[in-house]
Formats: sequence, structure tokens, C-alpha cells
Amino acid sequence: MSEINSNVTEKVLVLDFGGQYNQLIARRVREQNVYAEIVPYNKITTEEIKAAGYSGIIFTGGPNSVFDPASPHFSADILNAGIPILGICYGCQLIAYMGEGEICSAGSISEYGKIELSVKDSLIFDGIPGKSICWMSHTDYVKRVPDGFNIIADTQQCPCAAFADAERKIYAVQFHPEVTHTEYGKQIIRNFLYNVCECKGEWTMENFAKETIEKYREQLDGKKVLCALSGGVDSSVAAVLLHKAIGDNLTCVFVDHGLLRKGEAEMVEKVFRQQFNMNLICVNAKAQFLEKLAGVTEPEKKRKIIGEEFIRVFEKEAKKIGKVYALVQGTIYPDVIESGAGDAATIKSHHNVGGLPSVVDFEEIIEPLRCLFKDEVRGVGLELGIAPELVYRQPFPGPGLAIRTVGDITEEKLEILREADAIFTQEIVNDHLEKDTNQYFAVLTNTRTVGVMGDARTYGYTIALRAVSTDDFMTADWTRLPFKTLARASSRITNEVHGIGRVVYDITSKPPATVEWE
Ligand code: XMP
Repeated sequence: MSEINSNVTEKVLVLDFGGQYNQLIARRVREQNVYAEIVPYNKITTEEIKAAGYSGIIFTGGPNSVFDPASPHFSADILNAGIPILGICYGCQLIAYMGEGEICSAGSISEYGKIELSVKDSLIFDGIPGKSICWMSHTDYVKRVPDGFNIIADTQQCPCAAFADAERKIYAVQFHPEVTHTEYGKQIIRNFLYNVCECKGEWTMENFAKETIEKYREQLDGKKVLCALSGGVDSSVAAVLLHKAIGDNLTCVFVDHGLLRKGEAEMVEKVFRQQFNMNLICVNAKAQFLEKLAGVTEPEKKRKIIGEEFIRVFEKEAKKIGKVYALVQGTIYPDVIESGAGDAATIKSHHNVGGLPSVVDFEEIIEPLRCLFKDEVRGVGLELGIAPELVYRQPFPGPGLAIRTVGDITEEKLEILREADAIFTQEIVNDHLEKDTNQYFAVLTNTRTVGVMGDARTYGYTIALRAVSTDDFMTADWTRLPFKTLARASSRITNEVHGIGRVVYDITSKPPATVEWE
């Protein structure tokens, strides 16, 4: 059986039939203050669903056709389990199929995009106008609803855009309420949760923080715990949660591998030592890392060396503390859902490694953020009093500037890159563009080009600036930064950073490129 969170009393199951919007469905539910967890359809049974005490179930969409014998199905007894159900797209057709309604595959009915929806009176359409826009994406459609069900919405093409058995509290919508293109999608999900499932809405980050602190305070009473702090939002929030729970029994180790951005190590030390008064060990391991990386140009090799060296440094520090009971990790929910999903090719090794191996002698791994989405982690961070600048920080890769310095790494190159990156960041912040881009940084290419300064020939490095807009970092578009921001960044970088002769802006999306250059 898949992972079920038994600490939450009110929860909804998102039964996953392989749709692309499944995480979005769970997030939409949680935005309404109800905890939702995603479980693949073949990893749970009706009995287990009943035993887990879900307030409701959402059948997700999926790419298949219910007619395909290999398509995902679920035991029809779930319809009589007494738990409210909302089926979306494929999930809607599956309900019709399970209830022995009639489903047709007809090209002429297929709908894609924004479609006008007409709704009738129903608990899930409470407060929604008779006509509104919904997002459709289907070829199969329900022609006749199963016995006991009524049609509650249609579109010009689709005679049965939604149907319901109000008595058994089963609802099915052909469209996608979870995407923002569906005008009243949020309200439909809210109606399902509150009108149909009768949820109370107890899932808030304030409650989560309080309960988590309380839980670890009891569970870890008197035990020593270790945390590898990177300064990123996940490990920072995990550390502060644990610190609030167990105080000085938590020791954080921050490894400065010399591949950090300008001022980063100082900032981490200031926040965690001064503001939170934590037991913090800052290890200056710059020389050690640079020595190991000298002359290495291959990106995967750089990652491997940094990963291994990091563990070695961490292990050495941990041993000085003596026996620790547990190690804290900042794993978050998308890591949990995505781990073990498919056999994707290894593009970059970070996608396939999960934290520190068990080189340190501890009995337990504590992952306080294991059930949270990134925006929820940020919510908890703010709740705990962590400064917004840290909470909303853009992601920064573990191997740091090593994978933004193309080719071999030297102290001189890192210094050039740090300065250029700091200027680019300042210009983005000065123009209030932080919210318009999800990640932005400078890359030191290994290319030197000819230039002219005063009357003299120069031969300096080329800096590439990169800014991307993305929801999930799996795909990304290059951000259309204003020319004036780019112009100022370019002029300042070439004037203020010695050794740079040219600045270019990276206008490649992912795919085909990746976000980082290495
Ligand atoms: P890519 O370059 O794979 O980046 O498109 C997607 C996101 O992952 C980050 N990234 C890394 N994070 N270790 C990490 O912890 C790594 O080796 C690594 N490589 C890329 C990248 O910054 C972006 O946010």
C-alpha cells in the first residue's frame, strides 16, 4: 500500500489514474484547507481506503480510454463504500463505466480547450452561474449515465458534461475544475469538499507547524538530532521546526564548499545563529573541495565529487558530536510522489539521488516536510518567523557555482562569477522582477572573446545571464526580462567585474536546454 498520512484526521484521497494534473488537484484541495494525498489506483484497495478514514475521494484524469483493457480500472465496490466521490475527466468516464452507463468514443464530440458549460442546480455547482467557461480535453464521452445518476451539466457538444447520484454523494465532471481556465473550478472543488464531503477545513500551516512541533517535542524528548543545513528553503524550514521542538538537542551543520553565491555563507550564519540562536556548526571546507575539483571539467564528475566530499565533511563533523539519534532531511511531497515514478533517463544525477546515504550512525531519518508542497513549506516558514527573503529564495543547486562554471573550476573564475551573479541579482531586485522569474543567475562560460576597452585589446570571459519562468522546473521558458534591466546588468558587469569581456542572455527554453548549463 502507498504512503498514507495517519497524523491528519481530515483528509481526501486523490486516486491517481495517471493524469497530468494530479498534483494540481491535490494542491487545489489543500488550498481549501483540506489535506489531500495522492495514491496510485493500483496501490490501494477499497478496504484500505475505508480503513484510512477519507472524507472524500477524487478520481483523477488520465491519458487512457476506459475501453482499453490495459487502462487503469478500480473495483466498482468503491461506489458503494459510503465515501463521497468526485470523478474528473477519465475519472468521470470510469464512474460511468463502473456503474454500467454508456460511454462512446466519437471524434465529433471530442472537445479541447475553453468551452461554455451550462449547469443545473446541484450541491457542487452551488454559487455558480448557469453558464460559465470550463476546460475540456476528451475524446470519449458519456452517452448514458448509470442508473441512479442524473445529468447536471452539458455543453453544446457534450450532452453529459457532469452527472451525479446525490444520494450516494457521487459526482462526475467531464471537464477539469483543477485548472485555472475553468472559471469556477476552485468553487466546484470547494463545494465538493464542504457541501458534499462536509469537511471542516482544518488544514492550515499554522496548525501544521504547531502539531509538528508538538509531535517531535514528545517523540524526541532528550534525543540528539542532526541537520544538514544548506540555506535553501526546505532545509531551513525543517531545521527551524525541529529547533522549536527540541532546542539545543538539534545541531545543524552548514558546509561551505566554496561554491556558494556572494555573501551566502554569512547570511546563513547570521540567520540561524543570531536570529534563531541555533546550535550551528559552520564548516569552511573550501580548500578541500577546490582541491578535489581541480582540473575536472565533466559536469557529472563535478557533481559526484561534490556529493561525496560533502558526505565526508558532514560525517567528520557528525562524529565530533557523538552519537546522534536522528538525521533531519528536507524531503518534500513532490520528491515523495515522484521517487520511483517511471524509468526516466538520467539527464543529471541530482534527479536520481535522495539526500545523504547512511554513513552517519543514526537510528531514524526525520522528514518533517514530507507531506508538504513547496508553497506550503513557504507558508510554514513564514509561520515560524523566517524572513520572507529566505522563504521566497530561488532554488540553488547543491553543487552550487561548480555547475555554473563551465569547464574547470578555479578560485579566480568563481570570484568573477560571484561578482557578476550578485550584480545581475541586484538589478533584478532593483527593478522588482523577482516575482516575474522563478530562477535567475549568471553562468561563467569557458569562452574568452576579444574586446576593446579604452584603446586596448581585451580578452575576457563571456558571462551568460539566465532567467527562467516555470511551475515545476521540469519544463521552463526563458523569462522575457525588460531590455533596460538586461542593459544595466550588462553594462555594470563589464564595467565592474574584472576579467569579463562580453555578456549574453540565454534565450533557450527547457526542453531542449536544461535550466543549469551543466
Ligand atoms: P535542470 O538544470 O535539471 O534544473 O533543468 C532543474 C532545477 O534543478 C536544479 N538543479 C540541481 N539541484 N543538485 C541540485 O540540488 C543538482 O545537481 C542540480 N542540477 C540542477 C536547478 O537549479 C533547477 O532549479
